[in-house]
This record gives sequence, C-alpha cells and structure tokens, in this order.
Amino acid sequence: MMSHGYEPEWSEGSIKPPVFQTSTFVFRSAEEGKEYFSYAYGLAERDPARPMGLIYSRLNNPNLEILEQRMNLWDEAEASAVFSSGMAAISTSILALVSPGTAVLYSRPVYGGTDLLMESILPGMGIPTRHCPAGAEPEEFERVCRELALAGTPCRMIYLETPANPTNILTDIAAAGEVAHRHGALLAVDNTLLGPLYQHPLQLGADLVLYSATKFLGGHSDVVAGVALGSAALIEQKVKLFRTILGTMLDPHSAWLLLRSLETAKLRITCARKNAQAIAEWLAKHPKVERVLYPGLLVDGPQRAIYDRQCSGAGALISFDLRDGSEAAAFRLLNAVQLIRLAVSLGANESLIEHPATMTHSDIPCEAQREIGITAGMIRLSVGIEHPDDLIRDLAQALDRV
Ligand SMILES: Cc1ncc(COP(=O)(O)O)c(C=O)c1O
Repeated sequence: MMSHGYEPEWSEGSIKPPVFQTSTFVFRSAEEGKEYFSYAYGLAERDPARPMGLIYSRLNNPNLEILEQRMNLWDEAEASAVFSSGMAAISTSILALVSPGTAVLYSRPVYGGTDLLMESILPGMGIPTRHCPAGAEPEEFERVCRELALAGTPCRMIYLETPANPTNILTDIAAAGEVAHRHGALLAVDNTLLGPLYQHPLQLGADLVLYSATKFLGGHSDVVAGVALGSAALIEQKVKLFRTILGTMLDPHSAWLLLRSLETAKLRITCARKNAQAIAEWLAKHPKVERVLYPGLLVDGPQRAIYDRQCSGAGALISFDLRDGSEAAAFRLLNAVQLIRLAVSLGANESLIEHPATMTHSDIPCEAQREIGITAGMIRLSVGIEHPDDLIRDLAQALDRV
C-alpha cells in the first residue's frame, strides 16, 4: 500500500506521488493523440507493450490509476475503477451491466440509498427489481430468478450486501453466485462492511465487488469515494466506459487522500474490529439492551456457518435494540453520548452512532423496515479506534439516561 504502482523517478524523486491536479494531458504529437483515443474508446486493439496513454481526467489520471492498482491487490482483482462516491460506483456499474428489460434481484436490507435505487430509480428506467431477505437460502433466490424468467424479464444481476447494513445479517456469497450463474446473471457484492480485510467476494465466485470507499478504506471522515472491482472484461470494457460518459469518476485530490488512507487501512481496521468485539460483548450483557447484532457474537446456526465459510473477521459495525424499543428511548441515548459522535456514515477513526429507522434507512417505508428487522429502538454504532474503555464509559453513561 506504500509503493505499488508508483516510481519516485517519475516525479523528481518524490517519495509520494504528487496530486496530478490537471484536467488534461499534452500529447507529444497528433498521431499520439489519435492512438490514445483509439485505445480509450476501444477502436483499436492495444499492444500490451504500449501505454494506455493519458488523455483527460474524466477518462484517466495517474492518481486514479495508482489507486486502482493498489485496490486490485486486496481483492486479487484483475481490474478496478474508482468513483466519486459509493453510490456512483453502484449505480454506474448497474447501468453498465444491466439493460432495460432484464432484472436485478437484491438482498434486503441494503444501505438506504441503494434501497432507493433498487425500489424507485431502476424500475423507473425499465429495470425491474425484486428482493429476497438477507440471509435467504439459495432456493429462495432460485425461485425468484425462475419467476423473473417466466415473466419475460430474466435476472441479469443478483446484488448482495453482506453483512447487511444495518442488521449485519450475512448472505451466502458462493451459493448466490451459483444461482446467478445458472441463470446467466452476474453476482455483485457490496463489500463495504467487511472488506477489504475480512471478506473477498471475488474468491467466492462473485463477478463484481463494490465499495463505499468513504467508509473503512478512507477512514478519516474526509473523503467521499467508491470502487468497483472485477475482471478486466467487465471493468475496463464496460464499467469504465459508463464512468467516462456519466462522469462519475473520482477526482485526483480525493484519490491522493485515499492513497494516504490505504497505508494505514490494515492497522485502523484491525484496531476498530478489536474495539468492536469488546463493546459488543459488553452491550450483550447490559440490562437495557435487548439484542446485539454483530457477526463476532454468532455462536452457532446457519449464520455462524456462513460466517465461517466466507468471513475472516467481524468488522466494526454493531447494531443493537434497546429493551425499551421506542424511538424516544433511542433518541435519549443518541442525545446523551459525549465522546461518540451522533452522525451517519461508518468505518471512520472516530466512533459514530445513529438511528437507522429515521436516518440512514428512513426512505424505506415503516412496514418494510419492520419486515427487514429495522426497529424504532435500533441503534447503529460504528466503532472507531479510540480507547475501548473510553467508548464503554461513554455508552454506559448514555444508557443510564435511557
Ligand atoms: C454498505 C454501503 N454501501 C454503499 C454506501 C454508499 O456510499 P457513499 O455514501 O460513499 O455513496 C453506503 C453509505 O453509507 C453504505 O453503508
């Protein structure tokens, strides 16, 4: 994460890549400009010995390319594309890979913005969507795929968010991949909550991995960004073409900030995960807490079996239900925290706490919220890298006020 994809001699010996804060790149000749465009638009086959060629920062830029090369390493991907937000990565990839008249089947819950995309925006563009509950058996995905085929709108993509935000329910990636591939569909996985350390969907049969890099990858609450990873055929030839034309690429300065963040990603994420385990165990014993949803507390049963098959760590996002399951009780807790910040987002160095039902997932109608396990008394806590004793002390005094 400190040197891959960059040589100091390219930039006056600078140990770090500079910010290539430029909109355009000067060609050495008209012939060179013609050649670079022919590669960028797929008009000519590139001899691998020839460079892609820098053209214009909506198409390519050194900071974006270095970042993409480093991102490829974590998930062992052939290619990746970086975007101006997680939602830009998700929406651009779906538009590039799913045509009107074919459908997307997704696991629910997903992040609220993704839910809105699935429930309103895609159907409005002629892409019908269906959902299965997070954690559903492969037979359930299979049944819906068959129904979609019979309806004349074959499933083109199964989309999973696992663990699901905010309930932390796990869905079996390998099993969903088999269903998708049997129906000629792609499997896309939002890996924001456990990646890039604790889950590698491409190794489990997924075709596309998506990240909100705003979260653990960025980690400092100062960047909004996204990433899509997969085969060169999907990313270079399809997703990047849509990114170029929709203009949803990342900007050079944010790419540079992410390069800096990646150097400490493993240290930060490991520390946050250890803190989260300690806090989840403490919350589970607290008399005012009804249940704690955290993969690190799974003991046995089907969810634990999925965890053992596909995860190597539990991450740092905890959701819990208060015994007094009212919104008022949840708000008393949220208004009482002192060290932990009352803010949406997750995966930051500082711990963040929020109320999914009225904040991140408020666009989901109440009845649907209940069906997918989002309750009025549910709190979502993203654990940071502070001292765990300080975090527990803060939660203890806030829970006293519930
Ligand atoms: C799991 C997940 N995916 C995607 C997103 C969207 O990311 P962004 O806010 O970077 O667009 C979020 C945002 O909270 C998220 O939690």
